[in-house]
Order: sequence, then C-alpha cells, then structure tokens
Amino acid sequence: MNRVYTDLGGHMAIAVDGVDLREPPTPALAAELRRALWDNIVLCIRGQSIDPAAFLAAGRAFGEPEIRPEIPHVPGFPAVTTLSSEDRDTKGDGKRLVAGANWHSDDTFMPRPSALTVLYGIVVPAVGGDTQYANMYAAYEALPAEQRRSLDTLQVVHTMKPARADLARTRSIDPAILAQRPPSTHPLVRTHPETGRKALYISRNRMDHIVGMEREASHRLIDDLVDHATQPQFTYRHKWTQGDLVVWDNRCSMHKANGDYPEGARRFMQRIVVAGEVPV
Ligand code: OGA
Ligand code: MN
Repeated sequence: MNRVYTDLGGHMAIAVDGVDLREPPTPALAAELRRALWDNIVLCIRGQSIDPAAFLAAGRAFGEPEIRPEIPHVPGFPAVTTLSSEDRDTKGDGKRLVAGANWHSDDTFMPRPSALTVLYGIVVPAVGGDTQYANMYAAYEALPAEQRRSLDTLQVVHTMKPARADLARTRSIDPAILAQRPPSTHPLVRTHPETGRKALYISRNRMDHIVGMEREASHRLIDDLVDHATQPQFTYRHKWTQGDLVVWDNRCSMHKANGDYPEGARRFMQRIVVAGEVPV
C-alpha cells in the first residue's frame, strides 16, 4: 500500500493514509512514523480497524506504553485505557465527565510525564467532540527575546490534584493514587530530546505555582501564556473521523477536549500513553 501524507494544520499536524496497523509496524515504518511525528507534533494515522492487541503493538512503535491505574481500561489490557461519553464521575457527583476540557499537556504531575499520547477514535460523534492542539514551539518562538530569556529559567510545581478549582471539572482522584503522586517540579520551557527545539511546557490546571512566585501571580502569568499560545495561528482543531488514530507529542504541545456533542451522542476512544523522560 502506498503511504500518502496530507498536511492538516499548516504549522502543525499531518495525516497519513495507506498504513494498516492490523500488522505491527516494521522497524522502518515505525521510524518513518516517528519522524513524521517529530516534524509535525500531531500525526493522524487514518482508516484503522484494530483490536486492543494491535493498538498496543502500534503504541510500541512509538515507545514504551505505560499504565495509568486511575483510568478505566480494556479488560486484559491495562495499558489500553478508554475515554467514553458514558463516563461519569463515580467518586464525585456522578455528573458527565469530559476528561481534558482545559488546555493541558498529559500527566505533567509525574516526575517523567508521558512523552506521547495515542488516541484511537472508535465511535466519534457526527457533531462536536473535536480535539484542539497548540504548537508550543511556535508559541515560544513568537515571544520577544527578552521574555523568552526570563521564562527560560523558571521552574513550576505541578500537582495531580488540580491547582485551579475555578477551571472545568476533572475526574475525582482516589486518595490512594494521589498519595503515590507527589508534586513534580519541571521547567516552564523545555528542550525536546528529539528535535533540540525549545517549547513552552504548560498544563494550566496542574500548575500549582512557579518556584519563587506567589500562586496568584503564577496563575496570572500562566494564564497569559495560555492565551498567547492558543491564538489561531498556533492551533489546530482535529475533527475526528472514525478509524483515526492520532498520536501527539506532549513535550511540545497542549491539547483540549471539547464536550460540545449532544447528550446521548456517543464518543468512544481507546488511549495509550508512551513513557517520557525527565523534562529539561
Ligand atoms: C487525552 C485527552 C482529548 C479528547 O486523552 O489526554 O485530553 O478530545 N483527550 O478526548
Ligand atoms: Mn489529555
């Protein structure tokens, strides 16, 4: 099958047709797909129809899948978690849960946050439920040099328990899991280990404070940076087609879920996170 790449967002995001993940990717194909991802931040592998074992094998083409026990998973596949429009917050008030409705990068509260996330669209709503992405290389590079220099040295304390109660709802967290996830401190500007490029590293809801700054001032600065980074010229909005398998790089992007599909419309995704490194 011929592989055809199609640009999606101009400054970020690319799609590939002609890849069949029912067969595990060969090392050469895996290397090609990783290259496309490093160059484009978001890679959509279209037209897939795969079982959880094949999904896991596809995830392995990008690195080492990790287990996140706080998220429901496919029976027998602890590394293949699920995101569903039927998800309700069983530990909280039982309301509908839209994971990731704030701009964020995944798992920044971990000492080694996930490098990549792979989301496989099995049932997608006809209307709504897009995922938005922001290019954090471009957002960083567009800042004035002086501001870049002052941000370069800042460190931020990230917590699993959301630091910002004023932002949208998140899953209630099991205290036993919370106890195993102490805060992590990461640079506000990180250097991507594959590309060597610098990017803003922001996950607003998990950022408790900037080291050496008051929480309120920290949050104001973070909010300003989010407003800057989510301008149209830095973002891409992915409208899902059933069978899309979208891989994104958490080290140089933010993303946001949209819970704007009607109550009763179904959305069902399987998800793998790929191990990352200590951000520097
Ligand atoms: C995620 C996430 C966005 C979406 O899986 O980490 O934020 O649109 N998903 O479901
Ligand atoms: Mn997310």
